[in-house]
Amino acid sequence: MDELWTNLRRTQVFNIIGLLGVLVLLNTNGVESGKKAHNLESFQYPAISCRAHSVSLEDFGGVGDGTTSNTRAFKAAIDHLSQFATDGGSQLYIPPGKWLTGSFNISTSHFTLYLHKDAVLLASQDESEWPIIEPLPSYGRGRDNAEGGRYSSLIFGTNLTDIVITGDNGTIDGQGEPWWTKFRAKELNYTRPYLIEILYSEKLQISGLTLINSPSWNIHPTYCSNVIVQGITILAPVTSPNTDGINPDSCTNTRIEDCYIVSGDDCVAVKSGWDEYGISFGMPTKQLVIRRLTCISPTSAVIALGSEMSGGIEDVRAEDITAIDSESGVRIKTSIGRGGFVKKVYVRRMTLKTMKWVFWMTGNYGNHPDNNYDPKALPVIQNINYRDIVAENVTMAARLEGIPGDTFSDICISNVTIGLTEKPKELQWNCTDIAGIWSDVTPKPCDLLLDQGPEKIKQCKFPENSLPIDNIKIRTCCNKNF
Ligand SMILES: *[C@@H]1O[C@H](CO)[C@@H](O)[C@H](O)[C@H]1NC(C)=O
Ligand SMILES: *[C@@H]1O[C@H](CO)[C@@H](O)[C@H](O)[C@H]1NC(C)=O
Ligand SMILES: *[C@@H]1O[C@H](CO)[C@@H](O)[C@H](O)[C@H]1NC(C)=O
Ligand SMILES: *[C@@H]1O[C@H](CO)[C@@H](O)[C@H](O)[C@H]1NC(C)=O
Ligand SMILES: *[C@@H]1O[C@H](CO)[C@@H](O)[C@H](O)[C@H]1NC(C)=O
Ligand SMILES: *[C@@H]1O[C@H](CO)[C@@H](O)[C@H](O)[C@H]1NC(C)=O
Ligand SMILES: *[C@@H]1O[C@H](CO)[C@@H](O)[C@H](O)[C@H]1NC(C)=O
Repeated sequence: MDELWTNLRRTQVFNIIGLLGVLVLLNTNGVESGKKAHNLESFQYPAISCRAHSVSLEDFGGVGDGTTSNTRAFKAAIDHLSQFATDGGSQLYIPPGKWLTGSFNISTSHFTLYLHKDAVLLASQDESEWPIIEPLPSYGRGRDNAEGGRYSSLIFGTNLTDIVITGDNGTIDGQGEPWWTKFRAKELNYTRPYLIEILYSEKLQISGLTLINSPSWNIHPTYCSNVIVQGITILAPVTSPNTDGINPDSCTNTRIEDCYIVSGDDCVAVKSGWDEYGISFGMPTKQLVIRRLTCISPTSAVIALGSEMSGGIEDVRAEDITAIDSESGVRIKTSIGRGGFVKKVYVRRMTLKTMKWVFWMTGNYGNHPDNNYDPKALPVIQNINYRDIVAENVTMAARLEGIPGDTFSDICISNVTIGLTEKPKELQWNCTDIAGIWSDVTPKPCDLLLDQGPEKIKQCKFPENSLPIDNIKIRTCCNKNF
């Protein structure tokens, strides 16, 4: 390995791989030479961009034994690949194995990380493997702790263009248990790390992976545009703290589709900054489509909008959503002091089973970063549309709670059938400080929503036009590129 390592310092990597190819071809025993042969395995995958150069983590001293730290190998490989950013881009291939690593940075654009289906990235449980980074400007502080910074995510990147993190359903294992324990015991001085966080970037694809046991949130694209999250499985114990699935945060033009999420917090949580920090940063999440999501989240929402929404959330489309044993459907969470807005939200075709609430809006979520929030900063919640929903075994149809003097308005609910559990709440719709309309909904909504009659069913519209993110071209990439 040392010899190979030294060679790499001087030689074009694909020449080495070509040489290995010859060696493997000369070797009749394909199984025993399997370790290197993975470089030559032909694989194809869909991506926004294909790459001209590819190396394997093993070529940079990576050891997939589950106990050797690969943090330096990741850095060496990505440092090496950064020379190709303007020369066709590059790919880092993770072969079968258990690759223990601390936090590492994607520090080059036009880059793909590809995990073989039997590759597992094991997140280190050694806190010294996790650099402390600044809080996000739109949050002012870390989510867990008032003081100090936050642990950098396992895979971190900032100010990048054209990044693909994908695989043939390879696994990223956050090994979150000790983080959860320390968080519960208030023993952490910094905010827990996420699994993938990419900031200030354009053209991002995260797909074809299974993420398990994250220390906290799983996927956090922030201040990004043109984001695709597709075909992701996220699993964490339903009792684990804040293991949100996918959290688009101050992002424009995002598509989340074909994901399966079982977690201890919201399956998808749409965000845009926190109170005075989010207001002054002023960057909304807009043009977001979420489709074909399957969620199990017994203590949280299938899709949450907020509670950090101070930069605004606008034009969210959710369709073909399936949930089992979840607390609520598409929930709006906000508070006095948040400012910002949640508007133009369109939801259609949800199938829900065993829910506490189908509809839930909360205007008094609280949870402020500090006491400097502006009590006059009231959120605007407006134009929220739900249609074509079937729910079974529901405890309470709706809890819609606006803010006194700040009515949540233009709510529209149509074509909804809610079957109740054996012991339903007596009051099925509890509404305060909201306004809107409904048609064809059972059980019958509260009086603050006005009955339009069944013929007005088309009123809760869903946009006919598609978002620009649906027009991004996906190519078929393969390792023959190098
Ligand atoms: C990644 O980059 C950030 C700054 O962009 C830095 O603070 C952090 O230490 C880097 N992480 C590693 C593992 O080098
Ligand atoms: C990243 O981009 C943001 C926004 O343009 C900028 O404020 C910041 O300084 C950049 N950071 C780096 C490390 O280039
Ligand atoms: C990926 O792996 C997970 C965990 O083993 C599994 O539940 C899921 O069905 C797999 N997804 C695909 C697309 O194969
Ligand atoms: C947290 O900070 C305290 C006080 O500075 C220190 O004693 C403790 O070791 C720190 N804990 C960790 C896990 O870094
Ligand atoms: C009402 O919703 C159900 C379930 O999504 C759907 O099958 C049906 O076509 C909808 N009806 C109308 C009139 O849109
Ligand atoms: C219905 O919901 C209750 C909780 O309210 C749950 O205990 C029960 O198992 C559910 N029944 C079915 C048939 O899913
Ligand atoms: C209805 O909601 C209000 C708050 O919006 C709450 O104070 C009240 O207790 C609720 N009523 C019932 C019967 O749950």
